[in-house]
Amino acid sequence: MTKPTFRVQPASALARQRRAQRVLLATIFLLFALYLVGHAFFGPRQAASVLPLSAAWADEAPAPASAARAAAFATAAAVPANASETTRAGAASQALSAAASPDLVKRGQYLTRVGDCMACHTADKSRPFAGGVPIKTPFGTIYTSNITPDNETGIGRWSDTEFLRAMHEGIGRDGKRLYPAFPYTEYTRVLPQDVLAIRAYLNTLAPVHFTPPTTDLKFPFNQRWLMVFWNLLNFDEGRFVPQPSQSAAWNRGAYLVQGLAHCEECHTPRNLTEGLKSGARFAGAAQEGWHAFNLTSDKNSGIGGWSEDDIVSYLASGVAPGRANAAGPMAQVVADSTQYLDSVDLRSIAVYLRTLPPVSSGESRPRDGWGQPANDVTALRGQAPTGAHGAQLFVANCASCHHWSGQGIGASAPLAYPSLLHNSVVGASSADNLVLVILKGVQRTTRHADVFMPGFGEQLTNDQIAALTNYLTQQFGNPQTWVSAAQVQALRAP
Ligand code: HEC
Ligand code: HEC
Ligand code: HEC
Repeated sequence: MTKPTFRVQPASALARQRRAQRVLLATIFLLFALYLVGHAFFGPRQAASVLPLSAAWADEAPAPASAARAAAFATAAAVPANASETTRAGAASQALSAAASPDLVKRGQYLTRVGDCMACHTADKSRPFAGGVPIKTPFGTIYTSNITPDNETGIGRWSDTEFLRAMHEGIGRDGKRLYPAFPYTEYTRVLPQDVLAIRAYLNTLAPVHFTPPTTDLKFPFNQRWLMVFWNLLNFDEGRFVPQPSQSAAWNRGAYLVQGLAHCEECHTPRNLTEGLKSGARFAGAAQEGWHAFNLTSDKNSGIGGWSEDDIVSYLASGVAPGRANAAGPMAQVVADSTQYLDSVDLRSIAVYLRTLPPVSSGESRPRDGWGQPANDVTALRGQAPTGAHGAQLFVANCASCHHWSGQGIGASAPLAYPSLLHNSVVGASSADNLVLVILKGVQRTTRHADVFMPGFGEQLTNDQIAALTNYLTQQFGNPQTWVSAAQVQALRAP
């Protein structure tokens, strides 16, 4: 193949990025000027109408997925609509906690897993939830906070109102603006009683006395108050509003996916200011070098061909047999979060995902719709091995587990070695994820299995990995993709 479809980052991309940053800066300062002018004219009168939180979530009785959820929704809805949100949340949580406190904590633990707080707030397994995970951005590194109930270094002294405000508005203690690396843009949709259940669970954790490293961003991004403008452009504050025309399962799925589970943080592409692109929701995006695939109902570019069972199986175990396996950041999502979801919630997520409006990026076949079994292995046996021969590298390094035909071993058993034919990573229109799987392997621990494929980044050179990848995509995957040694090198250290 002579036409690489792989994304390259030449110098012009850098220049474009710098230009984009300058445009962003200019926009921020223009908005600031407008804000000052506006403030001078309307300041005191406007204050009251700008600040109150949206109360939309309780006005309509939603169709809940189970009796327990019906009760929870009803408790919150029973409080008069003109009561402040804190009063309503308080009433909801009081009703719940008075009834059964251990249940509240258990529900909180479940919801904490749905929100995957662990993934971002645990840098060291011996200090769970104590923060310190570095999140790299184009403007510098943000470190996550300690959210254990430690009084000095954690959130032990926070009131429930302060915790709600952080989750719903992205505002920390003392009015400090939080960076959107904390997904408050999604958590804002979570009902107050669910946020307070999470708080109740976090309160039961052992306090860890640990101060994470200080966030280090370049000027002007180190000015937290500027997030006011970022929010104007990219943040829609307000609780999830159920759609009466949709089923209970759909609403529950939408509530989880758009809210706590924050799937869009990885699966929706970003705009110039790093906000989510509202015109291309769930259309797929880059995440730490990986491609978080298109999840829309498009038959070729998305997962429109997947059944509900396929989606449930993938989220519960990391495997949709004959279609996809979860590696990289998605393996972590499955291991830390979605494997713990109950079957009602998983089914609801599947129902909702299957209705996402299709967004096509031009693929002619689904990712899992490619591949022929290899039949040329006997021919290779007589040949002397060369340095970067894709088929030989495959037989030498991969065939012991994935079979020389590429069809895998063990079919769809929990610890099977998957087929490389009809696999979404091998058939994707960009080979990024395939190269990353070869470089880093696959690790995923769930209740179902302790899945492990070794990484080959140490043994194989860039030339060898490029040759191997191009053999795999030609034989088992999308033959239109092509990768060079330089691109493999770029993926070694994204
Ligand atoms: C995608 C990563 C990510 C996830 C997931 C995440 N957080 Fe965070 N969180 C952050 C970052 C980054 C910060 C620090 C933001 C800053 O410094 O402005 C933060 C800050 C916070 C703060 C403010 C703490 C302070 O001292 O100001 C709270 C509270 C919080 N997170 C709670 C949670 C809870 C509860 C969950 C799960 C429901 C969660 N976070 C999930 C990234 C994450
Ligand atoms: C931290 C980033 C991240 C988050 C959060 C995330 N995903 Fe993913 N997702 C990925 C990546 C990366 C892949 C590709 C995995 C691979 O190549 O094996 C992926 C793959 C998938 C796939 C398989 C698509 C295919 O064709 O193979 C599905 C389905 C999926 N994600 C659903 C979800 C859902 C539902 C959520 C929310 C509950 C979610 N993801 C949250 C990063 C993420
Ligand atoms: C020791 C056994 C073993 C070897 C050797 C091995 N693999 Fe794997 N491979 C696995 C396992 C286990 C999985 C993950 C299965 C799962 O997700 O349930 C996997 C998954 C994969 C996937 C799917 C990843 C995804 O996200 O969909 C690809 C592609 C793959 N391997 C390619 C290769 C290639 C190429 C080689 C040779 C360089 C190789 N494997 C060598 C065991 C192996």
